[in-house]
Amino acid sequence: MTRDFNELTSTAAVLERNINCRNDRLREIMISVVTHLHAIVKEVEPTFEEWAFAIDFLTRTGQICDDKRQEFILLSDTLGVSMLVDAINHRRNSTATESTVLGPFHVDGAPHLQMGDSISRDGQGEPLYMSGRVLNESGAPIAGARLDVWQTSFDGFYDVQDDRQPEMNLRGQFVTGSDGRYFFGSVKPASYPIPSDGTVGTMLAALGRHPMRPAHVHFIVSAPGYQSVTTHVFVDGDPYLDSDAVFGVKESLIVPFVRHDDPASAERLGLGNPFFTAEYDFVLVQASVTQPASLAAKA
Ligand code: BEZ
Ligand code: FE
Repeated sequence: MTRDFNELTSTAAVLERNINCRNDRLREIMISVVTHLHAIVKEVEPTFEEWAFAIDFLTRTGQICDDKRQEFILLSDTLGVSMLVDAINHRRNSTATESTVLGPFHVDGAPHLQMGDSISRDGQGEPLYMSGRVLNESGAPIAGARLDVWQTSFDGFYDVQDDRQPEMNLRGQFVTGSDGRYFFGSVKPASYPIPSDGTVGTMLAALGRHPMRPAHVHFIVSAPGYQSVTTHVFVDGDPYLDSDAVFGVKESLIVPFVRHDDPASAERLGLGNPFFTAEYDFVLVQASVTQPASLAAKA
């Protein structure tokens, strides 16, 4: 038993107090939390003012949250924790499509569209034709795969942030046929800032960081018998690819968005001219495949 709580005994004192925890996983997690938290405090040696500031920062972060705004997830995103949790839970040994953050702008129930339809409901922006296949790890097409797609407008806003856009603009769901192919019309997305009017925005500014994300199209791709993947396709050449505010970029997800000035092809695709094309094949892992052990232990 520790009576004299001081800098030397603090960690043991708290760990000892927690030993009756009957939930093994909680006990294991709390040993790490307490050990690391005390180590940080001992390393940083905060003043009372600094500790009060930290408490106030977290309090304000919670107070901003409601059913539409989740500032704690944004904090996790901008500190690289969301992508770390994602990496730990999606270790891949293969060419399977890599995952990235879901983000706060996914909406359930996007319109079910026919292959070839456009997800743009207002036609604003530079036309885009996006296509590819959904494959398994052996390269065979997956029939009946569902692609749930969403993206920003040409000027970097999701429909839910922007009164000028029709509801469900730039959102849609498509299901592949026997060839595993998907194709749809859209407009070229733009890079945009994550919500920066809260505590996370203040933190980024204090750290000399910008709030921008490189332009991307979001996808959740799922199919019966396969693990679904939540990911983005990024626009090659975007100036923020190397400094994404939420660390979501992976090299394998960057593709060229190629500009075409070709009125005949534009008409055939039902798009205005000039237009952009982007191609990406999604590769899904079978549901029965378990993920490999920790990579961090080997690093
Ligand atoms: C997004 O891509 O929609 C997003 C992801 C993480 C934080 C904010 C936005
Ligand atoms: Fe996004």
